[in-house]
Amino acid sequence: QIFGSNPETFVKAAQLVQGQSDIIDINMGCPDKNEIKQGAGSALLKRPKRIGEIVSSVKKAIDVPLTVKIRSGVEVCNLEYIIKIAKIIEENGADALILHPRIAKQGGSGSVDWNVIKAVKEYLSIPVIGNGGIKTLSDAKSMMKNTGCDGVMIGTAAMGNPFIFEKTNEKKTYEEIKETFYQYLEYAKHYEIENIFYLRMQAQLFFKGFHSAASLRKDLGCASSIEELKKLIELNAEV
Ligand SMILES: Cc1cc2nc3c(=O)[nH]c(=O)nc-3n(C[C@H](O)[C@H](O)[C@H](O)COP(=O)(O)O)c2cc1C
Repeated sequence: QIFGSNPETFVKAAQLVQGQSDIIDINMGCPDKNEIKQGAGSALLKRPKRIGEIVSSVKKAIDVPLTVKIRSGVEVCNLEYIIKIAKIIEENGADALILHPRIAKQGGSGSVDWNVIKAVKEYLSIPVIGNGGIKTLSDAKSMMKNTGCDGVMIGTAAMGNPFIFEKTNEKKTYEEIKETFYQYLEYAKHYEIENIFYLRMQAQLFFKGFHSAASLRKDLGCASSIEELKKLIELNAEV
């Protein structure tokens, strides 16, 4: 995913990452104040002409599919306006649209308005991917059924629970979670994101809901190295 505010920079960024990416997504939804100050993220939603320029220039510059991620608005949700934005994105060559139907002002909380997904889907021919508040497989099915969207994107509920993408809701054993977390650590190494502050938060999320989970999570939160995380996880397996 790339973010920014001017088409030339977007093109440079897209060309830089396309060799390592299956798809490229343009961020037009981030509510972060620093991004908005730069005219990036959700600030772009207020500039229809600029949106068209960014999408068409990036599309022309890359060979991989291009998606765009938007919200339902910045300060307010105006259905007609957001449909217009979605159409501009489609007409300028995006291969799919990802829609998080909260306004930027809401950040990550408050209600997720599925009606916006339904309305936008009716006007677009490209796939529309719904996002926001999906916690289970049945939430995902329900969003798809009720809005007609072509797929869903899951953020928060996948943190510490990659099993959410499986077709069943079977509860995992401690051993299975441990093996998956160790695999996650391998990915963290491969992608050079081995920051212990981040990894111990992930460890706490993975082991939520287990026997002596509260004390394990407290200990994991204090670990100062990956080795220490693993030691705590192994010790708890023997309890
Ligand atoms: C910790 C965190 C980081 C996020 N980072 C990004 C990001 O870099 N780009 C983006 O488009 N959305 C980002 N989001 C927003 C999510 O992609 C998603 O739109 C939002 O959380 C709603 O979906 P969810 O309820 O499934 O989490 C982030 C969300 C969280 C919680």
